[in-house]
Amino acid sequence: MDLLKEAKIAREKAYAPYSKFKVGAAVLTSDGQVFHGCNIENASYGLAMCAERVALFKAISSGYKKDDLIKIAIVGDTKEPISPCGACRQVMVELLNKDAEIILGNLDDDIKRYSLEEILPYSFKELI
Ligand code: THU
Repeated sequence: MDLLKEAKIAREKAYAPYSKFKVGAAVLTSDGQVFHGCNIENASYGLAMCAERVALFKAISSGYKKDDLIKIAIVGDTKEPISPCGACRQVMVELLNKDAEIILGNLDDDIKRYSLEEILPYSFKELI
């Protein structure tokens, strides 16, 4: 499963008329399902939703649970592999399996792989 390739396909659907910065994400479940997400912006700029949160929310709203979500890939047209925003890191801590792999990429196929603890150390947790 080339999850970065899936994230690139998702990126093509981005709705980013304001920033023109397209982001794609793909979440892999333990039973092999892939959920795509892209960023979706709004004329009221603060309402923009990031690609990785769209993908995670699609998986959860389709009935998958935290422990089923084992990998996420995120891609943007960046010099180095994309760096997800802080809000998305907090959402990943909440919704991904604790051992999940976070694959960050760019269009040149530069890749970095992180764990949740690496990408957001000492994160806020209440029930998890
Ligand atoms: N964006 C994402 O989709 N994911 C991130 O991790 C960083 C930022 C989007 C939000 C906005 O539509 C555009 O990129 C520029 O910030």
